[in-house]
Amino acid sequence: MTKRNAFYAQSGGVTAVINATACGLIETARRHRDRIGKVYAGRNGILGALREELIDTGKESPAAIRALRHTPGGAFGSARYKLKGLEESRPEYQRLIEVFRAHDIGYFFYNGGNDSQDTAYKLSQLGEKMGYPLTCIGIPKTVDNDLPITDTCPGFGSAAKYVAVSIREAGYDVASMAETSTRVFILEVMGRHAGWIAAATGLASAAAGDAPHIILFPEIVFDEAAFLARVNKTVMQYGHCVIAVSEGIKHPDGRFLSESAARDAFGHAQLGGVAPHLAQLIKDRLDLKHHWAVADYLQRAARHIASKTDVEQAYAVGKAAVELALQGHNAVMPTIVRKSDRPYRWTIGVAPLAKVANVEKKMPRHFISRDGFHITAACRRYLQPLIAGEDYPPFTNGLPHYVRLKNLAVAKKLKTTFDVKK
Ligand code: F6P
Repeated sequence: MTKRNAFYAQSGGVTAVINATACGLIETARRHRDRIGKVYAGRNGILGALREELIDTGKESPAAIRALRHTPGGAFGSARYKLKGLEESRPEYQRLIEVFRAHDIGYFFYNGGNDSQDTAYKLSQLGEKMGYPLTCIGIPKTVDNDLPITDTCPGFGSAAKYVAVSIREAGYDVASMAETSTRVFILEVMGRHAGWIAAATGLASAAAGDAPHIILFPEIVFDEAAFLARVNKTVMQYGHCVIAVSEGIKHPDGRFLSESAARDAFGHAQLGGVAPHLAQLIKDRLDLKHHWAVADYLQRAARHIASKTDVEQAYAVGKAAVELALQGHNAVMPTIVRKSDRPYRWTIGVAPLAKVANVEKKMPRHFISRDGFHITAACRRYLQPLIAGEDYPPFTNGLPHYVRLKNLAVAKKLKTTFDVKK
């Protein structure tokens, strides 16, 4: 069996545990030095391949690689960059092959969400089309939890735990202040088209009256009158009202409540700002004092309160990616397969990239209560194990101690450069 090098890239929005996946992948590859030579990482994701900016992970000590397991963010830099269709953008694909050929890269590992799995799939087709043997494995990652087939997506469980913890704590605060001050608290969470993170806040309400009292999902069209009536009723009943809202909630005509003019490389509108919008509505129509917060990057970076389950699954998919490649799989993604809810048991499965690419898994209707404002028992059963357990990073001087890699560059072999159009 010939020994070839591997290329690993992080893609899209990073998470608290994407580096745990990198850790699983690199540690596993190091155990198979007879089959995998160097593990290169892309500096800023796929851009690193296009620009021939490769990082030699072999220059990092075992301790530094081990510390990736508890370090948030993307250790090599990530990118939102969509490769165009094979026919539209031949130069990009030719460049990738040129770079891979120059560095004898035979394994391509791409760690991302929906759009990234599409890119990984196209790259697998590219290898075949251009007669360059390339084993191509997508690795799941997204706080949005919207990849199909896999039971959950690494990154989600930790974001879910952070928002559930935060809304419970904020609920205690508002309840204390409600008599003379704040009556309403709104927490805005991520989730462009799927309400999984918003749903996770619902885990915090264990008994009637517990926060959150209202959850707004992108799967349910926003009904202003029904929402205001529910806020009013909750304040009458409990003296205060805590609301979790997904950034992706929409008006009946399909527009996002929080849409701004900014667009990313995929043409997605930048979202954010639905919480102040709702707060103003509540002020104007119900005249209630409020506070609001946008969890934003805090929720996907919160490694200090990561879910142990999530960390273990993130590591496992990185490890499985290497094992699948060595077993001869191509154009596939390792998945999490749930074997039972209670006790929670899971294993690793495998899905073809063709079935994963560009498919978005939304919340099923039976996970949302009939009135559209909360989660059901079935949803709790699904979510509960995903936030289970703690995996604290080491702390120094009161702060989490995270690693910064050396990220040493691999010498370029090509004379040509490539101008990336962002
Ligand atoms: O990765 C998914 C996500 O976290 C979305 O929930 C959010 O809308 C988006 O990323 C934000 O992306 P960016 O960091 O590129 O602004």
